[in-house]
Amino acid sequence: AFEKMPVKMEVNGVTHSLSVEPRATLLDILREQLDLTGTKKGCDHGQCGACTVHVDGQRVNSCLTLGVMASGKKITTIEGLAKGDELHPMQEAFLKHDGFQCGYCTPGQIMSAVACIREGHANSETEIREYMSGNICRCGAYPNIVNAIQEVKEGGQAV
Ligand code: FES
Ligand code: FES
Repeated sequence: AFEKMPVKMEVNGVTHSLSVEPRATLLDILREQLDLTGTKKGCDHGQCGACTVHVDGQRVNSCLTLGVMASGKKITTIEGLAKGDELHPMQEAFLKHDGFQCGYCTPGQIMSAVACIREGHANSETEIREYMSGNICRCGAYPNIVNAIQEVKEGGQAV
């Protein structure tokens, strides 16, 4: 067993001082220590995008990120997107366009979609598909996901 390490991180605006195993992933810390289970574990190997969160505004696969690497950073998970009772525009758009079926990939898709627009990579269907290609949907909801992203992008709403 390894000695646990102290890690301080801000998650959805709340600062947490944690004690984590050196090998613990950010994904496991979010889900198991902070009970933020909206972030999903699909492959646990960086191949599906279900675990996508934002670290200092950049999207990352939290299954590939060690908790100790997130020390001192600001993390946003799907639970942190809505403002009180008000859904984030991307959450609204996924609902409106039926951007999901089973919903398992959806938190990761939404976190990636927000980043995709912020990065300036949502200018065409082709570009959206390319920059969303790290997020796999076994249900094949891709056309609806693309429609949702295009609507938010074209609506010019702040994301
Ligand atoms: Fe992280 Fe699949 S669970 S990429
Ligand atoms: Fe089922 Fe995407 S909605 S995996």
